Amino acid sequence: MTLSGPVSDISASISDANAALALLRFNLDAGADAAIEEAPISRFGLAGVRLETAAPKASAPMRATDPAPANVTAPRAPAVPTAAILGANDRALAESARAAAASAGSLDELREILQRFEGIESLRGRATNMVFADGNPESRVMLVGEAPGADEDRLGKPFVGVSGQLLDRMLGSIGLDRTSFYITNICFWRPPGNRKPTEAELVAQAPFVQRHIELVKPRVLVLVGASSAHALLGTNDGITRLRGRWFDYKSAGLANAVPALPIFHPAFLLRQPAQKRETWADLLKLKSRLAELG
Ligand code: URA
Repeated sequence: MTLSGPVSDISASISDANAALALLRFNLDAGADAAIEEAPISRFGLAGVRLETAAPKASAPMRATDPAPANVTAPRAPAVPTAAILGANDRALAESARAAAASAGSLDELREILQRFEGIESLRGRATNMVFADGNPESRVMLVGEAPGADEDRLGKPFVGVSGQLLDRMLGSIGLDRTSFYITNICFWRPPGNRKPTEAELVAQAPFVQRHIELVKPRVLVLVGASSAHALLGTNDGITRLRGRWFDYKSAGLANAVPALPIFHPAFLLRQPAQKRETWADLLKLKSRLAELG
């Protein structure tokens, strides 16, 4: 039986929607993790505020062992988030965070100033502990993750829950432990209910993250997961594209750019253990970079 008139229109649009869903599922199964327009968009032309923490562009030197460059583009400006999505209050808060963070002359001072900083009450007011950092601040490697979870909130230390334990094991496989790396997050308090931190919350904390890196002066940064890579590299490219490539992290308070390596987040690896292989390859890159640094 064939349908005609409005009923057939509805039936045609349902079948279009089903076809679109099937295509979307196919792409997800194939590993796609970022939506791309059919025509290129120049994001350099878009008005926006860039996080001070974000390197404006990535040098991403390619090596023989790096993933094939096909479809891989350098991260684009502007960094997340943009003025368009931030209100005047958020921008004023970010400004006062910048002044507060800049006044810290040591890690202890930074921790104290952050602890007293008012304005991030959506996080601070609900958390048990501020989660500042763990590990050795003198070490050459600094890891930056996303946000504390319940275990981190309870103990006041980053990456101490199940995913942190996996991260420790992975780093242990290349001879690193918390005496030889330093670890923090782009968000210092557990977001209630483990939600993602909002853009406004990240903008308010960004100057503290930036100052944190400036004070530690690591030789190498490891950006653990998409949120960290996005915030510090100023790109929205999917982590699948970013991981395993070296980028330059630049900051006004650092004499030199710091090589930064995005990797998959261990929470993702717990859900997708097959991806551990990629992370193993990334960690070998980290190991050889550290060997090169001597
Ligand atoms: N995930 C993170 O990104 N950071 C933590 O501290 C814990 C889990």
